Amino acid sequence: MRLQVFLSKSGICSRRSALELIKQGLVRVNSAIVTEPSTQIYPEKDSVEFRNNKVRIKRFTYILLNKPKNVVTTKEDKFASRIVTDLLPKQFFHLNPCGRLDKDTTGLLLLTNDGELIYRLTHPRFEIKKTYFVKIKGQLNNIEKQSLEKGVVIDGKKTGLAKIKIINSFKDVTSLNIEIREGRKRQVRRMFLAVNHPVTELKRIREGSLELGNLGPGQWRFLNKDEIKQLYEETGLNN
Ligand code: URA
Repeated sequence: MRLQVFLSKSGICSRRSALELIKQGLVRVNSAIVTEPSTQIYPEKDSVEFRNNKVRIKRFTYILLNKPKNVVTTKEDKFASRIVTDLLPKQFFHLNPCGRLDKDTTGLLLLTNDGELIYRLTHPRFEIKKTYFVKIKGQLNNIEKQSLEKGVVIDGKKTGLAKIKIINSFKDVTSLNIEIREGRKRQVRRMFLAVNHPVTELKRIREGSLELGNLGPGQWRFLNKDEIKQLYEETGLNN
């Protein structure tokens, strides 16, 4: 494993800061200062120290939760009656949600202590697809659909490209899937509001290769090895 990757997997810093810390000569391998971030190390036999403290790889936990309504994602909301980590056993309270879902939004929420993965899944630079099942008021005509797909202006800034697949449409309600690659605040709700079709139901069903599947509201499970591997591949964390 590269020294830079080892350091970020220890949880003390991100990959970007690991690069700097190594270059600054703050990291020793088997007592010798190493300033080359790509130096190969063997975690089982090499001893790595940062500022004279032994560094160990942190174990990461990955949980997929189907967030129900009326539960908030952010841990900082002191007034919230229920936050997502309340739905998990106490030993997982330290995990962080990957992105946020509104209080009324349900569906796929990844919780983990793997900060680098959270960063890459949520930062628009990595263009990870997020798919939502949406119910809106009224019928979406072709012009409205195309303008949503090309980008609509919210808060003075155009949204990125989106894909919409209509599932069914009646007079008063349309069900559809929308795929976006950003995560601006209340983005899906505000996009449909921009074309005068308020959202009445919103559920995230997919993030990258990760699927909600048949987990019921409030249910959770650990990710399996293949799912973690896939997320690492699509966010470029394997390189
Ligand atoms: N877009 C929204 O409007 N709300 C969410 O919770 C997620 C995406």
